[in-house]
Amino acid sequence: MASATLITHIGRLVGIHDHDTVLRGKQLSQLPFLEDSFLLIEGDQIVSFGPMSSLEQMPINGTHLIDAKGGYVLPAWCDSHTHLVFAATREDEFVEKIKGRSYQEIAANGGGILNSAKKLAATSEDQLFNSAWQRLLEISKMGTGTVEIKSGYGLSVEAELKMLRVIKRLKERSSLVIKATFLGAHTFPLLYKDDHAGYIRLIIDEMLPVIAAEKLADFIDVFCEEGFFSPEETEQICQAGLRHGLPAKIHGNQLHLSKGVQTAVKLKAISVDHLETMDEESIQLLASSNTIGTLLPNAAFFLRMSDPPARQLIEAGAAIALASDYNPGSAPSGNMNWVLSQACIRMRMLPEEAINAATLNGACALQTQHQCGSIRAGKRADLIITKSIPSLAYLPYAFGQSCIEQVLVAGEPLF
Ligand code: NIG
Ligand code: FE
Repeated sequence: MASATLITHIGRLVGIHDHDTVLRGKQLSQLPFLEDSFLLIEGDQIVSFGPMSSLEQMPINGTHLIDAKGGYVLPAWCDSHTHLVFAATREDEFVEKIKGRSYQEIAANGGGILNSAKKLAATSEDQLFNSAWQRLLEISKMGTGTVEIKSGYGLSVEAELKMLRVIKRLKERSSLVIKATFLGAHTFPLLYKDDHAGYIRLIIDEMLPVIAAEKLADFIDVFCEEGFFSPEETEQICQAGLRHGLPAKIHGNQLHLSKGVQTAVKLKAISVDHLETMDEESIQLLASSNTIGTLLPNAAFFLRMSDPPARQLIEAGAAIALASDYNPGSAPSGNMNWVLSQACIRMRMLPEEAINAATLNGACALQTQHQCGSIRAGKRADLIITKSIPSLAYLPYAFGQSCIEQVLVAGEPLF
């Protein structure tokens, strides 16, 4: 019989949604909870939960007990956008930006994504695996239970496949839920600077067939942006991905009104991510679609950009998710607790909205909502147990402090 764990004396069990549907508009502030409760786990799954007062009837013989001592229990974070496989950090560019150079200037001079690609080409699959493994451990201790990881620092057939094989190994080895996204269209490599059609042919004819045959990706992504991939190029690449069964998740409207939203909606993309640069038309279009807008406040913060218009998106009825964008160039942190604080402080999301956006809606942005993202019988027991906290709002309020006492991934305590 699978091992059982009983968590008792939960001050507040948060996120007990009775459905797995994406939350849009006003629904985002609805975060159902139960006070003074227990939660029972068998194997890697939540089996039941209820008020402590009803616990006497529960079978507790041979069960591992965890006393939450009044701490809150939440679903673990579902971080639906990261680039956490990379060869080296880029703090030299960080200093350049402090001195006044822009992200675009650095990219145009061979820095940025090209800098990461150069370093990745010179790094072995094992080295990449080991450093990414450490990052996975680090984010899981900060409460992340589900994570998406993109390729995109390869930019050649060999190096893109190397990255995706590293992600495949991480999936096989880790108990986290991991989804892989093919981002060969992150930027044009120098060799193809003046031959966009040639690089797109490489993506479509050389990379995608191998990726599909080896089942190396779950989604396809394109950086739809001025100076990177045009809306037409984005569409062409994503259509090819769709033919191989890969739904799209697009980088759009980060630096300019890049028509990323229009392209994503047209492609029926699962999500369009970033959205720092939006106009009313893009907000309304996104709100009227099934595409999730994924906001990455750490990237806006780190690049000193204006924040995505979270409030306008919510008021228009859009479905939004929150993710870390963990990468060496624009967001060198995978800390979802910090994302939560940024979302509340800078984008005026309510604590309940931010938690839903970082859990259930993040799961929906990865099509894993039946597996994780809320507290529900039958879902994975990926849980955060907090220290004793005075209220839910204390989590984003106490920015930079760790409120986490314990994290369970697939029913197993990490500490
Ligand atoms: O999501 N915007 C495109 N890609 C990444 C950054 C990549 C990098 O600078 O290394 C992002 O911000
Ligand atoms: Fe990104």
